[in-house]
Amino acid sequence: MSAPAPPRVGRATAARLPEDREERRDKEHARAIRRRSLALLGSLLRPVKRLVQGTLALVVVAQVAAVAGPALVAFGIDSALPRLRAGDPAPVLLAAGTYLVAALGGGALTAWTVRLSAVGSQAILLDLRRRVFRHTQRLSLEFHESYTSGRIISRQTSDLDALRELLDGGVTTLAQSVLSMLLTAVSLALLDWHSGVVLLVAVLPGAALTRWFQLRSQVQYRRTRTAAARLIVRFVETAAGIRAVQAFRREPQVARVYHGLADDYRAVNAEAIRVNGVFSTGLTLIGNVTVAAVLVVGGLRVLDGGLAVGVLAAAVLYARRFFAPLAQIGMFYNAFQSATAALEKLAGLLAEEPTVPDPARPVRLPVATGDVRFDGVEFGYGSGPVVLPRLDLHIPSGQTVALVGETGAGKSTIAKLLARFYDVRSGAVRLDGVDLREIDPVDLRRAVVMVTQEAYLFSGSVAANIALGNPSASREQVEAAARAVGVHEVVAAMPLGYDTLVDTRGVRLSAGQRQLVSFARAFLADPALLVLDEATSSLDVPGERLVQEGLRTLLAGRTAVVIAHRLSTVMGVDRVLVVDDGRIVEDGSPAELVAAGGHFAGLHADWQASLR
Ligand SMILES: Nc1ncnc2c1ncn2[C@@H]1O[C@H](COP(=O)(O)OP(=O)(O)O)[C@@H](O)[C@H]1O
Ligand SMILES: [Mg+2]
Repeated sequence: MSAPAPPRVGRATAARLPEDREERRDKEHARAIRRRSLALLGSLLRPVKRLVQGTLALVVVAQVAAVAGPALVAFGIDSALPRLRAGDPAPVLLAAGTYLVAALGGGALTAWTVRLSAVGSQAILLDLRRRVFRHTQRLSLEFHESYTSGRIISRQTSDLDALRELLDGGVTTLAQSVLSMLLTAVSLALLDWHSGVVLLVAVLPGAALTRWFQLRSQVQYRRTRTAAARLIVRFVETAAGIRAVQAFRREPQVARVYHGLADDYRAVNAEAIRVNGVFSTGLTLIGNVTVAAVLVVGGLRVLDGGLAVGVLAAAVLYARRFFAPLAQIGMFYNAFQSATAALEKLAGLLAEEPTVPDPARPVRLPVATGDVRFDGVEFGYGSGPVVLPRLDLHIPSGQTVALVGETGAGKSTIAKLLARFYDVRSGAVRLDGVDLREIDPVDLRRAVVMVTQEAYLFSGSVAANIALGNPSASREQVEAAARAVGVHEVVAAMPLGYDTLVDTRGVRLSAGQRQLVSFARAFLADPALLVLDEATSSLDVPGERLVQEGLRTLLAGRTAVVIAHRLSTVMGVDRVLVVDDGRIVEDGSPAELVAAGGHFAGLHADWQASLR
């Protein structure tokens, strides 16, 4: 027996209501997106307003010059040639001279518009490129963790390219094309309305073909973009995970998937080219038929004596001119579509707000003592689950604290809150009694330095990488910092010493060496509060003795929070905090905690056992 079906009608009405609302919300959303990208476009165009106006004026003059050509031909044949026969060469010379000037001038003006629009579009793109870069730099860690680098790369490459295609000629070409068609049609109608009617008839299939092309190419365009995006994403993913791919011998599978995607991409491109081919061939056909029709209709009238030969010649020239720009208008639609999509995505990126905003009224803290407090801190990432339910903690100035606990306990989260990579949900993290959210960002960056496992080195010299912590430091200070953390010998042994480049052109430092360099960087920065998150994890045991000394120098006399897995590191600190599920469950000196026989004592016992 099946359960009785629920009443149909009721369910349908209940379902329809929220759908309507959803639809309305979607429309509202789409409008908001459009407004946002138009606002961006406006702000981009404003600085080059003059240039745009000048370019458009040039386009108008150039098109008027171009459309004058056939009319001059008509005048030359019908009026000037008979006068020449009668012995008056002036009208022919006038017509020929004007024709030449119009042709040359029109050409020169067109060249000028191309140049101007390129200057304008490059200025806009430079502005936009800088804005995107500056903005992504400004955005908080949270943004970068969710917005993949692949997406940022496509904002900076394919999206800007789509805009460039539109701006670099697209807009001026559209203005030229539309104007050319309008002027040509009007001139033809004025010159000979019969031919004008023929043209009007031919416009119908031309418009229908263009509309067909627009719809098809829109679909085609979307398919191409999707296929390209899939291909790029797969490539980037494979490249990023190449170690895992090779380690697990996944090359054949990965290659098969990639080849499949590449073939899809080829297929959609081939289809797009086919659609383009149909369109441009169709247009050429319509154009040729129109010319023939104008020629036949006009030719018959010439034979009847109802039409001057010159006017027929001009009508044929106009008819030929008329359809040429239609291909460009059709293509423009594609460029326009991709540029609109690109602009929307760029505007979306630029509308992202940093989740860790700069304070409205920054409090200066030029010399911090490093007294740290967590007051009733509650924290979770984004809108995710709570990671730290309620943390109260005071670390007095100068104390070295170790955080220990299982993976996922929340140690790194505490470290990141100290460096204000994130803001708390409630409560406050305070440095010298000042809420981190109110401290002048420059002072905060100087006061708090976080060294992680990653130990990122920028391309440049070793010295420059150490001096990152204090760009005004002298070479002596850089060297002193390197000595203090025990990395001087390593650097001195490099081919160019401190001037050795640490990128692909220079030497490759081992993970341990990179960590030592980042220690020197932190030492030189001399922060009031130092946070080390597994910053010693890449160091092997022989190097460790050196590092232990370096670490001791680094930590001496400043507040420090250290996350480390080696008990040798942990045993040397003033105070240990055991973190479990976002809570501090043990708090005391290493000796106290060992004596207390809790979690830490267990860790200590394990360590002792492993040494035996
Ligand atoms: N960027 C992040 N976004 C969302 N959740 C995160 C993020 N980083 C860490 N977490 C979550 O927060 C909790 C604590 O993580 P973490 O502080 O890194 O632990 P630990 O450093 O002690 O291993 C874990 O449940 C982890 O999944
Ligand atoms: Mg961690």
